[in-house]
Amino acid sequence: MAHLRIGVLASGRGSNFEAILNNIKKAKLKASIQVVISNKASAGALEIARSKGISAIHISSKQFPDQELFDQQLLSILDEYQVNFIILAGYLKMLSPTVVRRFKNRILNIHPALLPSFGGKGMYGIHVHQAVLDYGCKVSGVTVHLVDEEYDTGPPVLQRCVPVLDDDTPETLAERVLKVEHQIYTEALQLFAQDRVEINGRRVKIKPEL
Ligand code: GRF
Repeated sequence: MAHLRIGVLASGRGSNFEAILNNIKKAKLKASIQVVISNKASAGALEIARSKGISAIHISSKQFPDQELFDQQLLSILDEYQVNFIILAGYLKMLSPTVVRRFKNRILNIHPALLPSFGGKGMYGIHVHQAVLDYGCKVSGVTVHLVDEEYDTGPPVLQRCVPVLDDDTPETLAERVLKVEHQIYTEALQLFAQDRVEINGRRVKIKPEL
């Protein structure tokens, strides 16, 4: 694959985006972030992008209630910034089939649990960690997965476990999980940058480093 020119889609704080940006600077990831796009004008991710001199764009379905127009707008921004790879980093909207097909196997999402458990609509943020604790799980984790046309159902690229401790609250668990998110999103992207990802249906194989 050619050099990864990443478009980030984020709805909130933007810590995953920031971690990836730092890892690019530290040369742990060979890629560039072309643009950050958010459906929330007040998203921390947009602020971080602006402060680092990265283009930050707000586009929401409130401005473009018609899905087709929204998609056209989104795709034209991605084209304008020559994006060839999309990452969802806390993006709470579902991408339409048009966008998913245009970037087939080139969209990743990160989820703060071990999918297929604790995923799907409504499973975001603290709700995920609350559900993990309510179930009494002893481990949770992180999943980086390819994005398909549903919520959280695309094939996993990397997963990593995180222990659940007896005295965890949703917040303490979220914090432990987030540290791992900040590591493995970069790792997953680096695998794509090195052309080491082989996708066969739902089985994603990681080829050894040359
Ligand atoms: C992360 O926990 C991620 O797993 C989930 O949304 C959260 C985004 O956090 N998809 P941030 O905006 O990257 O700080």
